[in-house]
Amino acid sequence: MPLLDHPPGKTLPFSLRRGIISPAPGEGDGKVSSETIESFWGGWGFGGGDPFLQKGVPSPDSRPLLPGAGMTRQYGIIGYPLGHSLSPLVHNWGFRRFGIPAEYTAWPTPPEDLPAFMDRFRSTPFAGASVTIPHKTTVMTFVDVVTDLGQAVGAVNTLCWRDGVLWGENTDVEGFCRPLVNRDLAPGTALVLGCGGAARAAVVGLTRLGVAHVAVTSRTDAKAEALAREFGIESVPWAARETYQPELLVNTTPLGMHGRFEDLSPYPGEVLTSAIVVYDLVYNPYHTVLAKAALAAGGLVIPGLEMFLYQAVEQFRLWTGRILPEEELRSLLMEALYRT
Ligand SMILES: NC(=O)c1ccc[n+]([C@@H]2O[C@H](COP(=O)([O-])OP(=O)(O)OC[C@H]3O[C@@H](n4cnc5c(N)ncnc54)[C@H](OP(=O)(O)O)[C@@H]3O)[C@@H](O)[C@H]2O)c1
Repeated sequence: MPLLDHPPGKTLPFSLRRGIISPAPGEGDGKVSSETIESFWGGWGFGGGDPFLQKGVPSPDSRPLLPGAGMTRQYGIIGYPLGHSLSPLVHNWGFRRFGIPAEYTAWPTPPEDLPAFMDRFRSTPFAGASVTIPHKTTVMTFVDVVTDLGQAVGAVNTLCWRDGVLWGENTDVEGFCRPLVNRDLAPGTALVLGCGGAARAAVVGLTRLGVAHVAVTSRTDAKAEALAREFGIESVPWAARETYQPELLVNTTPLGMHGRFEDLSPYPGEVLTSAIVVYDLVYNPYHTVLAKAALAAGGLVIPGLEMFLYQAVEQFRLWTGRILPEEELRSLLMEALYRT
């Protein structure tokens, strides 16, 4: 793999690119590596020709389970309740953007209907799916292979085919890591607020990025302690979280989210400093109360929209081999989410 196989202007070290998505040497024994289905980082096709075509990923038409020429490939999102998902907007835009004959639909699927849905997924067959709450873990038993990232997180959010084999992958890790790497951030300490599904992806991502000290805290201390034990990291009592001053503070709680949590912050703003980078996974509003406090303290903020954007880019790449142009996608999302 060439060292500079990524877009010009980015200074991503090779070790980081490998560290995120592929197992460390010796770690992958007996597991299937995400590298097998190509890494986002290793695959940017800027060597010439179409810059948005992912090299090395089988073209959709080469996959035997997909419909033949002239047929529209079916993708969608499963979850329950689905509420308002941005994923149909993103992926249908992407299909139009690249002239791909495909459509993406919301498939609300209650837990008891998941087995029947997965039968239909294989027999139709559907070309791919996004997976959201409450199926991210259960669906792992319905796929043929779970990638090492999916296994590490204990959840997958993407179903895709490779040569007749149904894979479950977790693109939340890639989505989480990419904004950090884009900013050349290499924190030595990180504190993750909350310990649900997004926290698990964040912890796996931070560990793979080589962050030396990762800690987790949660309003339910016992849950944080259990997560810390599972991942071999530190847990910090919720009541003492502000005494732990990390270089990177990651919010994975819903506090700050539009609605009843909007005015709330999971971390006291008055103890933030310009030395603390705040990464708030909440993406609506664009800047949460916590993010605003971090900005007021002179710190750097990574908005949750960035993670959402890059997990979607990675899903689309896995399905189509194409890389959604991030600036265009960011504009689309900004318009959809924050237009007043
Ligand atoms: N930007 C993105 O792409 C992206 C991706 C995934 C998730 N997210 C966001 O991340 C957030 C968490 O998602 P998730 O899937 O991890 O949810 P989850 O599995 O339900 O976990 C939520 C965590 O927040 C804690 N929490 C809930 N209400 C709280 C409160 N009032 N005060 C303090 N802690 C509270 C929970 O603690 P308990 O276990 O004690 O209830 C749990 O640890 C959501 O806002 C979601 O929108 C963003």
